[in-house]
Amino acid sequence: MTIPARVKLVEVGPRDGLQNEKQPVSAAVKIGLIERLQDAGLTTIEITSFVSPKWVPQMADAAQVLTGIRRKPGVRVSVLVPNIKGWEAMLATGAPVDEIEVFGSASEAFSQKNINCSIAESMERFAPVVQAARACGIFVRGAMSCTVGCPYEGEVPSHKVAYLAGLMKGIGVQHVGVADTIGVGTPRQVQAAIEAALTHYGIDDVSGHFHDTYGQALANTLAALELGVWQFDSSVAGLGGCPYAKGATGNVATEDVVYMLHGMGIDTDIDLDRLIDTGQFISDALGRKNGSRVAVAMLNKH
Ligand code: HMG
Ligand code: MG
Repeated sequence: MTIPARVKLVEVGPRDGLQNEKQPVSAAVKIGLIERLQDAGLTTIEITSFVSPKWVPQMADAAQVLTGIRRKPGVRVSVLVPNIKGWEAMLATGAPVDEIEVFGSASEAFSQKNINCSIAESMERFAPVVQAARACGIFVRGAMSCTVGCPYEGEVPSHKVAYLAGLMKGIGVQHVGVADTIGVGTPRQVQAAIEAALTHYGIDDVSGHFHDTYGQALANTLAALELGVWQFDSSVAGLGGCPYAKGATGNVATEDVVYMLHGMGIDTDIDLDRLIDTGQFISDALGRKNGSRVAVAMLNKH
């Protein structure tokens, strides 16, 4: 398998990156982040989640963020939607959305902790959302959490990933993201999870979503590239974590992935300098050390 010549990065910083943030972050800062990401060349941005504000208070301003952004032509906006209630809240904003993401888990325990239902029940909740979205021409992605490890169940065998991918396919989800939610996976494990997803989806409909808790995310990205995967989620400045995966840190930093890809001659259409400025903007706004190794190295040089 030859490594893809182009990679599409889906920026999840405004959603995955900020959802776990304890301090209040204003909608204006979130909007400023999203607009800077667009200007840096990101073409698909996961901007927020229509989830319960009791569960994830930081995403309570979903409608404000979705309606407040200045959209750059050609940029696709994506939001998380866990059920019909979230779908209706999204529709009520009247704002255009290009993609939604339902989110399930390969492990039962994480499904319960994250979305308060079993894997089977989650499909019943997602199915009408998927149907409604597709009827409006909105693209539907499905996040598959805990595809290598679960904070409650430990190691997750790949047959559970294949099973979940089959369920997602069965309800009409068009693309699946293979997530290492707690960032424990190593390259061969991640490849096994991707191969499990590939039993139900084609290579163009599978992406990688790697948290970097154990520092494996770039290696896992390369391992996925070796299988032909060309779409990845990443988070500017390495922001984030999941509120229901204690101790898990952010996604792989977008800057670090872009640096690696460009160094390998792989095209992304992302302007690394502008991206680094964007990562620094949000790190400053949060009063946080920048979580991108590449950004820190390059900023130290200047
Ligand atoms: P539930 O309690 O089972 O829902 O929560 P319910 O239908 O029984 O309703 C209970 C209450 O929640 C009701 O309000 C509903 O109106 C309200 P009450 O009558 O008590 O006042 N409610 C909602 N409010 C706003 N928006 C909604 C909504 N639905 C119900 N959509 C639910 C189920 C999924 C809503 C809840 O468990 C939840 O919000 N969980 C949040 C999960 C989350 O956002 N996790 C982080 C994102 S996933 C992630 O980070 C992983 C990923 O990055 C991939 C990876 O790394 O693994 C994608
Ligand atoms: Mg995640």
